[in-house]
Amino acid sequence: MKATLAVVAGFAATVMGHGFVNNFTTDGQYNQGFLLDYYYQKVNTGSFPNIAAWYAENLDSGFVAPDAYGTADINCHKNSAPGAITASVKAGGSLTFSWGPDAWPHPYGPILAYVAACNGDCSKVVKTNLQWVKIQAEGIDYSSQVWASQNLHGANSPNGAQNYPQCFNIAVTGSGTKTLPAGTAGTALYKSNDPGILMNPYTTITSYAMPGPTLWSG
Ligand SMILES: *[C@@H]1O[C@H](CO)[C@@H](O)[C@H](O)[C@H]1NC(C)=O
Repeated sequence: MKATLAVVAGFAATVMGHGFVNNFTTDGQYNQGFLLDYYYQKVNTGSFPNIAAWYAENLDSGFVAPDAYGTADINCHKNSAPGAITASVKAGGSLTFSWGPDAWPHPYGPILAYVAACNGDCSKVVKTNLQWVKIQAEGIDYSSQVWASQNLHGANSPNGAQNYPQCFNIAVTGSGTKTLPAGTAGTALYKSNDPGILMNPYTTITSYAMPGPTLWSG
């Protein structure tokens, strides 16, 4: 049996800075990310290239603040909408995401990856129906005190954390039989006072509570 699971891959980097996924590769194949230029193309001409990355209005490469965790924006960023096409990767294959513009200027914080089943064509998915399953979580290296996002964040004040969700339509092909476990609605993923979000990063961290639901081992 050849199974195709169409998923939205979502990233949430809880860091300070400015960033977005410039491009990504699926089994070595280059895929364009959503660029700010496309926003202006859409405003000026009504359209922009068909890409698997989601549209979003993070115009300053900015972030979703903790006081918006309860809003639809936490799914795939501000006023996001599904990409028109779907990239594809083999089960067990490789996915690489390149964050731009270059690096995080002063990031402290984890990088989390989630998937949510589209249950059909990802380009028609309703983002508030997405049920997120965490598949990767990288926090801080306790010995070097270096974060996944490489530097610092300003989360030691309420609403200080900055969230950079980015989404992509990806079909996972293969003959596997595993099914995704029940996920979590975007609006239920985080709370502004979660210990991994409202925290003092300017100290030695010996234990870090990863934000969001349990990591799926599948
Ligand atoms: C992909 O994104 C990275 C990170 O922003 C950038 O350095 C690289 O030039 C991009 N690749 C292409 C082919 O545009």
